[in-house]
Amino acid sequence: GSYALAVMFNEYPEEIYVARKDSPMILGVEDGKSYIASDVPAILKYTRNVYYIGNMEMARVRKGEITFYNLDGDEIEKELKTIDWNAEAAEKAGYEHFMMKEIHEQPKVVGDTINSVVKEDFIDLSNVGLSEEDIKEISQIYIVACGSAYHVGIAAQYVIEDLAKIPVRVELGSEFRYRNPLLDKNGLVVVISQSGETADSLAALREAKEKGVRTLGIVNVVGSSIAREADSVFYTLAGPEIAVATTKAYSTQLVATYALAIQFAKVRGEISEERYVELIEEVKTLPEKIAKILEDKERIQWFASKQVNAHDVFFVGRGIDYAICMEGSLKMKEISYIHSEAYAAGELKHGTISLIEDDILVVGVLTQPELYEKTISNMLECKSRGAYLMGLTTFGKYNIEDTADFTVYIPKTDPLFATSLAVIPLQLLGYYISVAKGLDVDKPRNLAKSVTVE
Ligand code: AGP
Repeated sequence: GSYALAVMFNEYPEEIYVARKDSPMILGVEDGKSYIASDVPAILKYTRNVYYIGNMEMARVRKGEITFYNLDGDEIEKELKTIDWNAEAAEKAGYEHFMMKEIHEQPKVVGDTINSVVKEDFIDLSNVGLSEEDIKEISQIYIVACGSAYHVGIAAQYVIEDLAKIPVRVELGSEFRYRNPLLDKNGLVVVISQSGETADSLAALREAKEKGVRTLGIVNVVGSSIAREADSVFYTLAGPEIAVATTKAYSTQLVATYALAIQFAKVRGEISEERYVELIEEVKTLPEKIAKILEDKERIQWFASKQVNAHDVFFVGRGIDYAICMEGSLKMKEISYIHSEAYAAGELKHGTISLIEDDILVVGVLTQPELYEKTISNMLECKSRGAYLMGLTTFGKYNIEDTADFTVYIPKTDPLFATSLAVIPLQLLGYYISVAKGLDVDKPRNLAKSVTVE
């Protein structure tokens, strides 16, 4: 199995022995004190000096002094690393909850992540470790992740296939690892993970490596297991994310996939120079557009206050809008404890519509112009069965008000990047309902921030 152990002996006071296999562990030292934790944010308040203990290694921890050993008991040298994240980043900074603080950090961290690869009018992936030759060789992309990171993968599938014309398959880590996947030798396995420690995602990465396929991690935590084991790493710059429900890490993962899609398309000759520059310019506008949506958060708060007694909510959309629905629905479930489903709008009539009855909230997401009318008609089908409709669409699509009972507008962007904007009101909706119900927003029941067990 996997373990991260801290053991004390009666005979050796003032010492703790630690060992790890597969489960995460980090050690910190500062001012004659030592710290043991499962990841960096837990000890940021006390120190930024961190050792990463490797798999199948042990350490003796004394006050301010840590000695590492391999399984044979031979002493091994470890480099003490300094973490860039500061302690304030792991504090609430005046917000009532970490989640709200992290929602508001999105314009900044999305901008930081974009700027880490976008140089003026071109994208530079050299820090990620992907050369033009590597990009040209890719025959197929397999995106593997769990939870919200999986939802990023679903949205990215549309963007990468549309721009770079590379076939993309998206899979849950927990499924991928046990189904003995057939992987093309020129394929690229992209593992997306905030923590870099999610057990199923890590196992999927190892499975891919064992099969000799190139791997790329999109990871937020520097030095985490996935970051260390992947062949290349695209670091998202979300900073420490404390709330269990992800917001800012999800948003930075999304823009990381946009950068990959745009650059892959360019290198493989699938888009013109003009379109390339246009897409980059559009991605650069996302932080200010996110900030604009946040300015109107009170409207969502008002709407949320009316939904505290909801028992079932349906999120419906098509294409990229369906990917957005999946994330909106997860936010609703995990922090508001309201049962919700994300449905590809066209699938409703194949069974689920039988659940629609008077006053059930149906949230329609309509950011994709060519699918707008189709989703409207699915919303109408729900309305005629008594549903209460919320519509989420772009400014200008005002005829939604003929159908929806409550509408939320997001700024215009390229439809490929709409997820980055449409997800913000849905994060706020989950958050405000949770607060209105008096729930523990940052630490919802039964959940852990890093899922390091399967
Ligand atoms: C999302 O709000 C959840 N906390 C969860 O679904 C999360 O995205 C998932 O566990 C994956 O975590 P990771 O990004 O650290 O791998």
